[in-house]
Amino acid sequence: MPDLKDKIVLITGAAGAIGSAIAAAVKAQGGVVIASDLKAGNGIDHALDVTAEADWQRVTAAVAQTHGRLDGLVNAAGIAVVGSIEKTDFATWRRVLSINLDGTFLGCKYSFPLLRKKGGSIVNLSSVLGLVGSSNLAAYTASKGGVSLLTKSVALNGARYKPPVRCNAVCPAFIAGAMVDDIAAGGGKRDPQAVHQKLANDIPLARLGEPAEVASLCVYLLSDEASFITGADVPIDGGLTAR
Ligand SMILES: NC(=O)c1ccc[n+]([C@@H]2O[C@H](COP(=O)([O-])OP(=O)(O)OC[C@H]3O[C@@H](n4cnc5c(N)ncnc54)[C@H](O)[C@@H]3O)[C@@H](O)[C@H]2O)c1
Repeated sequence: MPDLKDKIVLITGAAGAIGSAIAAAVKAQGGVVIASDLKAGNGIDHALDVTAEADWQRVTAAVAQTHGRLDGLVNAAGIAVVGSIEKTDFATWRRVLSINLDGTFLGCKYSFPLLRKKGGSIVNLSSVLGLVGSSNLAAYTASKGGVSLLTKSVALNGARYKPPVRCNAVCPAFIAGAMVDDIAAGGGKRDPQAVHQKLANDIPLARLGEPAEVASLCVYLLSDEASFITGADVPIDGGLTAR
């Protein structure tokens, strides 16, 4: 695994399946994790609602005071709500876009001055549904498409600095954890086990991914080993988007 010794990495959604796996992997590679989620405590350093501009201002000010810089940012906070265009109400649309897309925008924006100090790396959690559509996750798909293209804009801006601020999106297919459990439950109307199996059957490697597998990719993108990779959408999907 690549070395992250002494790299200071802020992670949102760090209490979640993927965020907590990333926090563990960054620490294991020698990095200094600043973990954030909706509530502090239990290994979470800062309460940070990614949709709240004032929270970003407070947390990045605290990071500036304690560390003086950031070397990495992982925007992992996110929600998925099942619903086609016909079944998604406007309030749900706005909530999903607010957390997944506004939250990523605010994270990139407020962390950028700290990342610019010595160069750094942003990893945004997009999804395979930022690359291809899904009929029954209309708001989620739109939010992740936005994350993937915001990533390219941030990357092109970050490339103008020396050392650069790199920015990449990781695009997982279904990863075991609460989010897929919620999608599988689908409001309690479907058999979650059968939905899990169907999701796995759609993947050429015939299984769901593991949070630790996504974390390994994030560690690589945060590290200096990935120094020529920026503006990329990196699928981690068991071959789902290969066909
Ligand atoms: N699980 C998957 O199959 C999958 C696939 C592709 C992409 N992703 C993306 O990966 C990221 C992490 O997903 P996960 O599986 O760990 O989900 P999860 O539900 O396990 O964790 C999400 C975390 O985000 C936090 N969160 C929600 N709203 C927030 C807000 N307003 N401010 C701050 N934190 C908030 C939650 O408290 C939770 O800890 C998400 O962006 C998700 O869209 C997940």
